[in-house]
Amino acid sequence: MIRRKNILKIAIDSPAAAGAGTLAKAISKHYNLFYLDTGKIYRFIAYLKIKFPKKFNNKFVKSKIKYLKIKDLTKSNLLSDEVGTEASIISKIKSIRKMVHSFQLNFAYNPPKKYKGSCLDGRDITYNIIPDAEFKFYITANVKTRALRRYKELKGLKKEITYQEVLKSIKKRDKNDLNRKISPLKKTKDSLLINTTNLNKRACFLKIKKIIDRKINI
Ligand code: C5P
Repeated sequence: MIRRKNILKIAIDSPAAAGAGTLAKAISKHYNLFYLDTGKIYRFIAYLKIKFPKKFNNKFVKSKIKYLKIKDLTKSNLLSDEVGTEASIISKIKSIRKMVHSFQLNFAYNPPKKYKGSCLDGRDITYNIIPDAEFKFYITANVKTRALRRYKELKGLKKEITYQEVLKSIKKRDKNDLNRKISPLKKTKDSLLINTTNLNKRACFLKIKKIIDRKINI
């Protein structure tokens, strides 16, 4: 694998619906970094499982991952709660994580030339995918706030779901992601904690920008 030198790498881990994606996108745009929402890869695989239950096996997933394009990860059918829940189930499988691993490494260490670096968000980015990232953040918010944000997002997409259902599924997902044996969600010691419960998007962005600028301007 090619590793580009002197690039800026930002690693973000967070529980579901903490606002990490929105923040990561804003940060990536500001610093001209290549952004990858790694949860979308697991969602893509979960979607394959729901759509092709009979064909679903390692070989099938491998063949799909091989030709996976960023464009495939932007489809709105990956955003449903059903796909999210299924993603947190298939993401426990070792062979699946292994297949996704090299795909992520390539984007983290060899982003397209027009970018100054990369920014990835997920559950195991800070300690498994980019352990040597220049910046590491753990972004979180209390579970009710996260559920409300996700509920509004799903409503905006015209999905049929209640707040209580969203809350329940986020709690289930937290449990799955925090307690699984392989690559669980955790805050590493060297990650900076950002709690977005009482911060709006702009305030979160400025907080992170300040931390980054302080270091890269030296
Ligand atoms: O971030 P998002 O909610 O889209 O992720 C969907 C699911 O994918 C998570 O609940 C988690 O189980 C899994 N995931 C993971 N490792 C990552 C990113 C996501 O296991 N790096």
